[in-house]
Amino acid sequence: MVRDIVIYPDKRLKLISQEVKEFDSELHSLLEDMYDTMLSKRGVGLAAIQIGVAKRVLIINLPDENDDDALPIKSETLEIINPVFIKKEGSCKHQEGCLSIPGIYEDIERSEHIVLEYQNRYGEKKTIEDNDFLAIAIQHEIDHLDGKVFIEKLSFIKRKKFEKEWKKKFK
Ligand code: CO
Repeated sequence: MVRDIVIYPDKRLKLISQEVKEFDSELHSLLEDMYDTMLSKRGVGLAAIQIGVAKRVLIINLPDENDDDALPIKSETLEIINPVFIKKEGSCKHQEGCLSIPGIYEDIERSEHIVLEYQNRYGEKKTIEDNDFLAIAIQHEIDHLDGKVFIEKLSFIKRKKFEKEWKKKFK
């Protein structure tokens, strides 16, 4: 089911999401709703708090680099629960956007190489390593679990400019 997306500056985006303890049907239907919602907005990633659920759950489905028109494949969606960084190294800058701050795209600095431990929807422990776009997407979504959004990483001046533009947009 497609759910409403929480839009900045809604205070829920500042909540620290809680660890998942039950890997049950409730979690699975949350994951299904997150997928439907992300797909409906053609997003590549979504954290549970973006549909108002403060749990440490995120999903990512990166587009096929070789085919811009390819539809996302549901079974290729990465479902990440209770993530913990084991390693974060280097730095890189890429343009990011966010379904909670629609229409805004900014260059953001992140770690280049990450190793992450997490659980899947059945509670099984997994590890993932990446030094490409997936690493960026994971860092963006984990920030949501910690109550942060990407525009907080902008310089003071760019942030002020953003806030001004955003206020105009929603008046
Ligand atoms: Co986001």
